Amino acid sequence: MEIKKVCVLGAGLMGSGIAQVCAQAGYQVAMRDIEQRFIDGGMNMIKKNLGRSVEKGKMPQDEMDAILGRLNPTLDMKEAAADADLVVEVIIEVMDIKKKVYAELEEIVPDHCLFFTNTSGLSITELASITKRPEKFIGAHFFNPVPVMRLLEIIKGYETSEETLEIAKEWGKKLGKEVIVVNEAPAFAVNRILCPMLNEAFYVLGEGVASAEDIDKGMVLGCNHPIGPLALSDLVGLDILLHVMEGLHEEFGDKYQPAPLLRKLVRAERYGRKSGKGVYDYSKK
Ligand code: 3HC
Repeated sequence: MEIKKVCVLGAGLMGSGIAQVCAQAGYQVAMRDIEQRFIDGGMNMIKKNLGRSVEKGKMPQDEMDAILGRLNPTLDMKEAAADADLVVEVIIEVMDIKKKVYAELEEIVPDHCLFFTNTSGLSITELASITKRPEKFIGAHFFNPVPVMRLLEIIKGYETSEETLEIAKEWGKKLGKEVIVVNEAPAFAVNRILCPMLNEAFYVLGEGVASAEDIDKGMVLGCNHPIGPLALSDLVGLDILLHVMEGLHEEFGDKYQPAPLLRKLVRAERYGRKSGKGVYDYSKK
C-alpha cells in the first residue's frame, strides 16, 4: 500500500515535529488540533525549525516553501482524516480521550487507513482493541526533538499484522529515522530504561544528595550523556515522565514508584520547558 496523505492528530511539541518530518519526506500532511492556538503554536515551531535550517544554509528557501506547501493545519477532523492513508495520533496521554478520538476516526477514514499512535507508554493492544482495525494499528514512538532524534521505536500490538509492521518500517526509513521494533510491554523498550533513570534523579535531588546542576553535570561529564537527566526531564515534560512512571508502577510494582519530588513539581504545574518552569526556570530566557 502506498502512503500519500498523512493525518497527524495533535499540533504540540511531538505532533508538530512529526508533521514536519512527514512533510519533509514528501507526504501531504494534515495537522489537526482542537484549538487554533495549538495549531498556531505548532506551525510557529515548524517555521522556526525550518527557518533555522535555511539561515544555516542547510536548506534552500524554496525547499522550505515546498515543505510548508505540503502542510495543511486544520481544526476540522473530516478535512484532516477523510482521505488519509495513515493517521498518526499524538494527543493527550489519557486512555479514555484517545479511545473517543479513535471511535470518531473510525466513522471518517477510508477502510485501508492505518492507525499509528505515538503514546509514551499506554498499551497499544488496548487502544487497538477499541477500533475495528486492530491489525492495522501500531505504535510509532518518536523522540523529542523529533526533527533531531534519529530513532523511531515501532511497537507491535497483539493483533498488529506483519503487513502493517512492514509499512511502518518503510515509512520510518523514508522519514530518515533508524527503526527498532519491539513487542508491546509497559513503556516499551526505551522509556522502560530511560524513565526510571530520570525518576531516580528526582530521588537523588529530593533527598538532598546533590544539587540539580551537579546531578546533571555528573551525568553529562561522567557518563557522556548529551544532557543531564533533570534537564532532559524538563525537555520531555515532567507530566509525561510521571505518567510513564505511574504506568510502570501499576504494572510492575514498587520498584518503579514515582519520586515524591517529581509528583510535587507536577502538582505545582512545573511541567518543564513547555510551561516555563520545571526543575529549572526557563521563564526569563
Ligand atoms: N527542535 C528542532 N531542532 C533542534 C531543537 C528542537 N527543539 N533543539 C536543537 N535542535 C537542533 C539544532 O538546531 C542543532 O541543529 P544543527 O546541528 O543542524 O545545527 C542541533 O539540534 C543541536 O542543537 P544545539 O547545538 O542548539 O544544542 P545541543 O547540542 O545541546 O543539542 C539536543 C540539543 C539535540 C536536544 C541535545 O541536548 C540532546 O540530544 N538531548 C537529548 C535528547 C533526548 O534524549 N531526547 C529523548 C527524550 S525521551 C523521549 O522523547 C520519549 C518520550 O516518550 C518520553
